[in-house]
Amino acid sequence: MRPFVKWPGGKALLLPELRQRMPKSIGTYVEPFAGGAALFFDRQPQQALLNDANPKLMNLYIQVRDHKSELVGRLASYETEYNTLTTISAKQDFYYQSRSIFNSRDFETNLTVLDAARFVFINKSCFNGLYRENKAGQFNAAFGWKSNIILYDEDNLTDCSSALQDALIMSGDFEDACRDLTAGDFVFFDPPYDSTFDAYQGNGFSKEDQKRLCRLFQSLTERGVYCMLSNSNTEFIAGLYSGYSFEKVSAKRMINRNGNGREGEELIITNY
Ligand SMILES: C[S@@+](CC[C@H](N)C(=O)[O-])C[C@H]1O[C@@H](n2cnc3c(N)ncnc32)[C@H](O)[C@@H]1O
Repeated sequence: MRPFVKWPGGKALLLPELRQRMPKSIGTYVEPFAGGAALFFDRQPQQALLNDANPKLMNLYIQVRDHKSELVGRLASYETEYNTLTTISAKQDFYYQSRSIFNSRDFETNLTVLDAARFVFINKSCFNGLYRENKAGQFNAAFGWKSNIILYDEDNLTDCSSALQDALIMSGDFEDACRDLTAGDFVFFDPPYDSTFDAYQGNGFSKEDQKRLCRLFQSLTERGVYCMLSNSNTEFIAGLYSGYSFEKVSAKRMINRNGNGREGEELIITNY
């Protein structure tokens, strides 16, 4: 089973490192910065809470959990419509039209299965296949020039839907997602990277947010909640978490807009 969205900062390559550092036995499994939730789908915990500040992404999780068959139907229609257009300029028009409808939706209320299907469509047909928003929260990736697209793997979606059946899915700030956790629960924090690279400056996650997260890490530690956090290996992050055990691991990350991979070092910090 693997994530159904390709998400910036996805943890697929780091899974072996993360898996081996998880506690053996846990209460509720929590990802406050879910993104593609690679570790969740890898582990398939019984009891889980998934949260991300992006409501459009979390709507997709809800639709996969609750309306998988209808979603598959919509994705199949999108796929056929796009793939049967005969010219690349017609595909380009179709992409920008869908993107514009997507950006005109009010994501605070009433998200539907069609919004979720449109989200997958633009995510898979945009440049680099990577979701990207501007400061106003509008999806702004350019057309990806693909002549054919595959929007879903039905078996994988079915497995993901099963894994999500008992999961609580939220969209909001990471602190709210962690409010009710108790001793023995496990949180995997995968926040936007602390970075000096330009491509990550627009992520809206400031140094102050990193400090706020560190304070939450501290208070969860005091409450007996297991915490594991990954972040880039910067002096700032190493300084914030200097009281905890941390290890450096090598991570191949996609941080450049042109899609060139770049080797980076990542920290995995635990409070146990
Ligand atoms: C590095 S990505 C997570 C990658 C993910 N673990 C994966 O495997 O694909 C960070 C996520 O944090 C989310 N985010 C940013 N600020 C947030 C906040 N204040 N509270 C919760 N989520 C936030 C972003 O929307 C983004 O999806």
